[in-house]
Amino acid sequence: MSANGQSALLIDGKKIAEDIQNKLRDDIKTWSELHKRKPTLVAVLVGEDPASCKYIEKKMQAAEYVGIDSRTEKLHESVTEDELITKVVELNKDESVDGILVQLPVPQHISERNVCNAVDPTKDVDGFHIMNVGKLSLNMMTFVPCTVLAVIELLARTGIETFGKNVVICGRSKNIGLPLSMLLHSDARYELPGHEATVTLCHRHTPPEQLKVFTKTADIIISATGVVGLIKADMVKEGACVIDVGINRIKTQEGKVKLVGDVDFSAVREVAGHITPVPGGVGPVTVAMLMKNTFQAAMDRLKQ
Ligand SMILES: NC(=O)c1ccc[n+]([C@@H]2O[C@H](COP(=O)([O-])OP(=O)(O)OC[C@H]3O[C@@H](n4cnc5c(N)ncnc54)[C@H](O)[C@@H]3O)[C@@H](O)[C@H]2O)c1
Repeated sequence: MSANGQSALLIDGKKIAEDIQNKLRDDIKTWSELHKRKPTLVAVLVGEDPASCKYIEKKMQAAEYVGIDSRTEKLHESVTEDELITKVVELNKDESVDGILVQLPVPQHISERNVCNAVDPTKDVDGFHIMNVGKLSLNMMTFVPCTVLAVIELLARTGIETFGKNVVICGRSKNIGLPLSMLLHSDARYELPGHEATVTLCHRHTPPEQLKVFTKTADIIISATGVVGLIKADMVKEGACVIDVGINRIKTQEGKVKLVGDVDFSAVREVAGHITPVPGGVGPVTVAMLMKNTFQAAMDRLKQ
């Protein structure tokens, strides 16, 4: 049982995403009427990976809902890096396009870094360009990756304080764990809102017994690893907040495919104070933050 003798409160990402998108829908309507145009998002999809196609579909649906014009440029899996970058540069030059995202992962023969760096930083709504990553590390205003923003939004809207708290992040990827660590220990004396946490960043070479020592002292545990069942109940301090970023497809005994996170949900729920479900936690808010970033890009471009 958690500190208050009850199961953890469920953080409803679907509801939070709806709230964000409803507000955006109103704001975008007003902006579009004033400027006689809608914000525009273009997704570039290489190949036909089913999970990537599903993510793109959700992003396009959300765009339509909030009033963002969107389209997907589909490229064959055999496209070369040069050809893909040529497409990105074409979108960079297109004055009607505000936001560009290249759906990751790209095929092995293409350098993800080269492609991310090809996107105009002012249209980089995924926040993966080297310049935007650099700005984030210096606590400057910039585009922050959508999953990172989603975690921050979930904490803020649930009233979970980060100031001076211990946060353990499992996973140090360049797109999630690392930028999340940078934002969570950001210093309010600079441009970005300061989240002022003490952050411990764990990864695949953190010994399991050491990982447990860290998570046991954490007020907030965030797992973004893709390792099913990584966070177990005996690793969690009573009343801690547990945010599960992981998305894993497992087969049930009946042979059906089921989505689960990194957290042993039903057991951890009995110890934690707050917990996000998978699905319905971080995922929907990530999509909402992409809409927010795209609207921001459109507003910024008119100011230039
Ligand atoms: N909810 C969302 O919106 C969203 C968005 C993107 C990705 N994801 C999911 O988040 C997860 C992470 O994605 P990613 O792109 O960062 O993956 P990644 O494979 O790039 O990184 C995984 C990270 O986990 C770490 N790791 C692996 N085993 C570990 C262990 N035993 N203990 C501690 N750390 C360990 C690795 O060192 C690495 O840093 C995946 O499940 C992915 O599907 C969710």
